[in-house]
Amino acid sequence: MEDLFGHRISYLRVSVTDRCNERCRYCMPEEEQAWFAKEETLSYDEMVRVVRIGATLGIKRIRVTGGEPLTRPGIAGFCAELTQIPGIESVGISTNGTLLAKVENGRTLAEQLAAAGVRTANVSLDSLDRDVYQRTTSRDLLPRVLSGIDAAIDAGFDSIRLNCVLMKNQTERELPALIDYAAKKNALLRFIELMPVSTQEVLSDDNFLAIATARQLVEQTTGPLIEEPDFKTNGPAVYHRIPATGQRIGFIGAMTNLHFCENCNKLRLTSDGKLRPCLGSYLEFDLRSVLRGGCSDAELAAFFQNVVARKPKEHDFRHNYQPNRRMIAIGG
Ligand code: 5AD
Ligand code: SF4
Repeated sequence: MEDLFGHRISYLRVSVTDRCNERCRYCMPEEEQAWFAKEETLSYDEMVRVVRIGATLGIKRIRVTGGEPLTRPGIAGFCAELTQIPGIESVGISTNGTLLAKVENGRTLAEQLAAAGVRTANVSLDSLDRDVYQRTTSRDLLPRVLSGIDAAIDAGFDSIRLNCVLMKNQTERELPALIDYAAKKNALLRFIELMPVSTQEVLSDDNFLAIATARQLVEQTTGPLIEEPDFKTNGPAVYHRIPATGQRIGFIGAMTNLHFCENCNKLRLTSDGKLRPCLGSYLEFDLRSVLRGGCSDAELAAFFQNVVARKPKEHDFRHNYQPNRRMIAIGG
């Protein structure tokens, strides 16, 4: 599948729930949330069907997201089904890490996911300072996240990435500790610019820290970083190496990197069954009613292709974008 701007679509992010056990300032700060009702949420069987059709059209990689995906019961079994779908080469999960070490039936959720064939785990980690972590997420769960990361390491994923959302007057002083921690855990650390996908107040310039500034601050302790234009994961992160140690760090500049959307390969499926061609666009298409209306596989495939045909050239974040949906209801 290719859109009007030459984007080749091979990647689908599947949000399995809008629920979360944290309340991050930049995502869903309000304690009370109007969650999707159960009947509004796609069943695992419905999601598997959508992925199966996507795979016939060139989707090769899946990332399972939320909300917090590990809050949905049966998540490892669902991932195991995804990894079995012909054409799907890799399945990863994005999590806040709080439940990775949770033991169910004698095994941690991390072990269950790895056994299901999940290859990469992206864990959100904004701070290693327990107070700052609590202020950011409204939950005092840093120790559990750190155990979760250890559980993921023990479970033997191919790669573990640590995602840190950059916040001005907060992340600056934590950069060295985060870099050391990632090195010690052999995890790939990525810094993400704050995007306007949540309530407005947290998204002011007062909280925005650009990747270029973060890079300069990192370089004060590491010396000049070496850019690695040829190293790519599956997304828009740009990678650099610390010369003295060889450690690699990623920068995800959704706001300031003007090339951010150039190689976009993604679609998103929300947990209430909307297919979205772009995180930073109002466009979304109601796949659920088509699915539940008894459509054929050919009709579903046509639906996919129609959404791809409407994929925008780039996101709208730089044009005073006002979110129409909570981040949590899109799936990072
Ligand atoms: N800006 C940037 N990243 C965000 N995330 C959630 N909300 C925002 C935002 N407003 C990140 C989380 C997680 C990933 C799923 O999305 O930190 O790493
Ligand atoms: Fe939950 Fe992740 Fe949103 Fe934080 S960013 S509230 S952990 S879904």
